[in-house]
Amino acid sequence: MSNKELFAAAVKAAEKSYSNYSHFTVGAALLTKDGKLFAGCNIENASYSLTICAERTAVFKAVSEGYTDFKAIAIAGSGNNDFSKPCSPCGACLQVLSEFCGDDFKILLADGEHSLADFLPKRFNEESMK
Ligand code: THU
Repeated sequence: MSNKELFAAAVKAAEKSYSNYSHFTVGAALLTKDGKLFAGCNIENASYSLTICAERTAVFKAVSEGYTDFKAIAIAGSGNNDFSKPCSPCGACLQVLSEFCGDDFKILLADGEHSLADFLPKRFNEESMK
């Protein structure tokens, strides 16, 4: 799957965003190493802190279906349906991704390709506890 296709899947996933409070719609498209795609959107709640980001929705969907080997994630976020500005993943989502993904895991935003190591270079993970 090309970067363009993966990013388009993230924009498509944002259509399902439940963001009645922030009105900021986010979609994520998570690609497994064997080519399966999991889409996620942000899901907000009247009790604001219970909101879940699009990225974690996608990761939890995949893991709950037995997929834990990931190649890339595309993220598209916008407050006005214009997905041309990059929407960076939040720290909580990066930490969740870090549980399953290596330094070279690809994070695709509107401004192009990044890696997990770009965002979280000195991450805390299972290795840190050995
Ligand atoms: N949000 C995401 O879904 N992913 C991000 O990477 C950043 C923020 C959501 C959470 C909330 O619903 C809205 O965007 C505004 O913060």
